[in-house]
Amino acid sequence: MEKFIVTGEVQLKGTIRTDGAKNAALPIMAASLLCRGQSIIHDVPCLRDISIMQDILTLLGAKITREKNTLVIDTTHIDKPEVPEHLMREMRASVFLMGPLLGRMRKVHLSYPGGCAIGPRPIDLHIKALEKMGAKVRECFGYIEMEAKALHGGDIYLDFPSVGATENTIMAAVLAAGTTIIRNAAREPEIYDLQSFLNKMGAKISGAGTDTIQIDGVRELRASEHTIIPDRIQAGTYLLAGAITAGDVVVKNILPDFLFSVINKLEEIGASIETGTDYIRVKAEKLRGVDIKTLPYPGFPTDLQAPMLSFLTIAQGTSVITETIFENRFKHVDELARMGAKVKVEGRTAVIRGVPKLTGAVVAAPDLRAGAALVLAALAAQGVSEVESVYHIDRGYDRIEEKLRTIGAQIVRINS
Ligand code: UD1
Repeated sequence: MEKFIVTGEVQLKGTIRTDGAKNAALPIMAASLLCRGQSIIHDVPCLRDISIMQDILTLLGAKITREKNTLVIDTTHIDKPEVPEHLMREMRASVFLMGPLLGRMRKVHLSYPGGCAIGPRPIDLHIKALEKMGAKVRECFGYIEMEAKALHGGDIYLDFPSVGATENTIMAAVLAAGTTIIRNAAREPEIYDLQSFLNKMGAKISGAGTDTIQIDGVRELRASEHTIIPDRIQAGTYLLAGAITAGDVVVKNILPDFLFSVINKLEEIGASIETGTDYIRVKAEKLRGVDIKTLPYPGFPTDLQAPMLSFLTIAQGTSVITETIFENRFKHVDELARMGAKVKVEGRTAVIRGVPKLTGAVVAAPDLRAGAALVLAALAAQGVSEVESVYHIDRGYDRIEEKLRTIGAQIVRINS
């Protein structure tokens, strides 16, 4: 088990580059199953979730090579429509394989997915959409079997703009007969990136980034080359690392539009923000609390709720955070209390009373984003902190400690 040792109260200063987005790379890797040939994908981050997806694709029959951050995925021979249970359990994003496998093999067999323990994460919307396109679904003993001899287009309304359900439906629809419309679709930038990748392969998709997406089915797709968009959640985390240490940090390789809601909140808090075409700079000194509600994009991202909460523990006054997307997303709060934070959680709301200082403590990362939040708190805290269970953090941040050291953080990884 590895942990981070962090010496806090060092102002972070300098420039940090964002990697490609994990949440765009995962569905795009799954989408490579929809053609026969070699897809070349650049800027794929080196993360545990990406390795799990690589393992799954390899088991299905794909041949994958990695040269730095470029993946070459050869999907000429895919012979299994089955995802092994132990890999499904490791990562919720394995559910993205449903749409592509159904599209390519016309059947799929998998168990319910795992992932972060951030509350119940049903897949009813995915299943309803695929059923509407002609898939016959059987669920028994924790397994889902789907078959669709002839997949057809459909007019689909999502009860909630689910990112995964939107992506799965797009991937199933590209090779279906006729036109599919997805209404109340999620609008996240990662969905636009999936559309770009699939359209390069010969798909006919329009509307990604809005709440109505149209997919005209085609007979086949060809392999193509694509560069993954930058990771807005990673970029937001590094901006908050700059802000929580009252530093001056430039985050490069990020479109400011992706983080509009976050930039807006940082300004409301009193931070000074400068943006360019591909960077955001944050400078922060005395900061005040704000109220935040997480919402589907372009609202404030649930994935940055935990890092933002850490920051608000030392902002002046009282802040209120309402989490509307996932339950159990306040698991970092008990750990932050060990560092002196004053936070009260009731249901989906956290009330944060800012304290002048946090103090170093031994804490454990309960999940990916909550883990990143604890690293941020440790960077600001007086004295030394230990952050345990860093494997959660490694699922979403490629060597976070090395990146943070380049802007002055005192953080090392050790084996405990
Ligand atoms: C994706 C992101 C995750 C992010 C989340 C919300 C990836 C790999 N993960 O997750 O980092 O936190 O979007 O921005 O891209 N829901 C249902 N039924 C369904 C599907 C979802 O009720 O069939 C609910 C979920 O329980 C949750 C909400 O919808 O409350 C949002 O989930 P969704 O947008 O699907 O998130 P993911 O795609 O799992």
